[in-house]
Amino acid sequence: MLNFASMTDSSATSPINDLWPYFRPVFEVTQSIDWTQVFGNSNPVELDIGCGRGMFLFNASGNHPQINYAGMELDFKEGRRAARRLFKQQRPNAIVYGGDARDLLGKHIVPHSVAAAHVYFPDPWWKRSHKRRRLFTDQFAAMLARVVMPGGLVHSWTDVGDYFEVIAALMDQHELFETLERPQEREAAHDLDYQTSFERRKRQEGCTIHRGLWRRKPLT
Ligand SMILES: C[S@@+](CC[C@H](N)C(=O)[O-])C[C@H]1O[C@@H](n2cnc3c(N)ncnc32)[C@H](O)[C@@H]1O
Repeated sequence: MLNFASMTDSSATSPINDLWPYFRPVFEVTQSIDWTQVFGNSNPVELDIGCGRGMFLFNASGNHPQINYAGMELDFKEGRRAARRLFKQQRPNAIVYGGDARDLLGKHIVPHSVAAAHVYFPDPWWKRSHKRRRLFTDQFAAMLARVVMPGGLVHSWTDVGDYFEVIAALMDQHELFETLERPQEREAAHDLDYQTSFERRKRQEGCTIHRGLWRRKPLT
């Protein structure tokens, strides 16, 4: 059961905490995250980095009640939208952190404490001068290697071919990850049968989706 009790006095009065414990601003996270305390159990935890409005988070947490899900979303409006769906259902195994995922990955997530990281359709930043804003960099791959447990998985999908080449180059050549077979496309059984909102939109536009899957190697 999600821990409803650990809100501080100051966060209790903040309007941003009306969705507590489903929406948690990253700037209020000051210590290492104890997943057992957050979720009230020691089930595996998976991250949805850049969860948007939370289609994956909502569906996966409903389909896999024995897994805990933590979404991370820079855009508070989108993140709160994702959290509101979880709040309405009082979903016991999913939450959203609002803010820059890299702050949590680099500082507050305990090393090797997550079973999987999902990074679906990271922003492509099309303009050449903006490409340095892309999420997937050497540093980001290192953060994934730091938080994912040995044997844990990184899933990343995108419709942007040149960005996938960058992601695949970073991950395929990373000494701490093993490349697994690229997941194949599965026919959607109904209009909402997609991994994320972006996958739905891009497939309906006829785009090719590139899918990568990597496994964290054992600790040496
Ligand atoms: C193109 S959308 C994809 C949303 C969702 N994953 C999907 O597939 O439908 C990318 C999302 O990543 C979020 N994002 C970008 N950089 C981020 C960061 N550093 N930390 C958390 N979220 C981030 C954006 O705000 C945006 O909502």
